[in-house]
Amino acid sequence: MELRHLRYYAAVVEEQSFTKAAEKLFIAQPPLSRQIQNLEAELGVQLFERGSRPLKTTEAGYFFYQHAIKLLSNAEEIKAMTQRIGLVEKTVTMGFVGSLLYGLLPKIVYLFRQQHPYLKIELIEMSTKDQIMALKEGRIDVGFGRLRISDPAVRRVLLRDEPLMVAVHASHPLAQQKEGVYLADIVDENQFLYPSHPKPNFSTQVRHLFSEHGLDPRNLKEVREIQLALGLVAAGEGICIVPESARTIQLPHLHYIPVLDDSAKSPIFLAIRSMDESDHIRSLFDCIYQVYDLEAINYDRAVI
Ligand code: BEZ
Repeated sequence: MELRHLRYYAAVVEEQSFTKAAEKLFIAQPPLSRQIQNLEAELGVQLFERGSRPLKTTEAGYFFYQHAIKLLSNAEEIKAMTQRIGLVEKTVTMGFVGSLLYGLLPKIVYLFRQQHPYLKIELIEMSTKDQIMALKEGRIDVGFGRLRISDPAVRRVLLRDEPLMVAVHASHPLAQQKEGVYLADIVDENQFLYPSHPKPNFSTQVRHLFSEHGLDPRNLKEVREIQLALGLVAAGEGICIVPESARTIQLPHLHYIPVLDDSAKSPIFLAIRSMDESDHIRSLFDCIYQVYDLEAINYDRAVI
């Protein structure tokens, strides 16, 4: 006796008809009748009153039906629980560059967790360059970074170009230019760049941006990380170019002003292994765009 026999039998009892049960089960009636006959033969018991219309179970048939539906429901529970346990053991590990924590990364990860409660999600801070190696070695499944690093084993997808801003002290004359400043306006300022290593990184991007505009800033100082750079700006020591999302870092006397040059943008990339077509990556991708829609962020949706 197999679960299939119990399923067939339960359907015939519930529909009180072989014809209707066969329709419900999407099988032809003759094989259904044969399966029930085989069941009766195996049990050595008559399960239906002969000639009854609509079909009626015998006393033994009713007893069998009640236990059959319990068994079927247990089987469904076992199936669902096993699937859930299987999911708990699935892990998606994400590498990310630190600055993304001040932007949408927490919202995206939180939404992804809510939509996949049985998935284990791990976050590891690492540079964009390290993400490429970590993807290839299977230490992470997805990387979020700001650099355009190419590798044949890795697929890089541009999620969006994030505008840049400049952080200045409230007493600085630039703080009055609320509508924004051009790179040429700030080239002679004392500027903090971050992070200091590993290279290439966001500081490399800012240096390139100036040189693309034919500008040569001479008063640049590299510091270890964004908090240090913004702390020094709040102390009145200089200014610092940051991605727009860093505005969430609020310190007394710290003002953020848009950088108006068209190319003053920092790209945000998602990187995955070239052959990775897992459903989880696809739904993480959907999740990112859901957050962009909620936050009214401009983007050109990429296809993966
Ligand atoms: C974003 O700010 O656009 C972003 C941050 C982290 C992951 C994906 C997107």
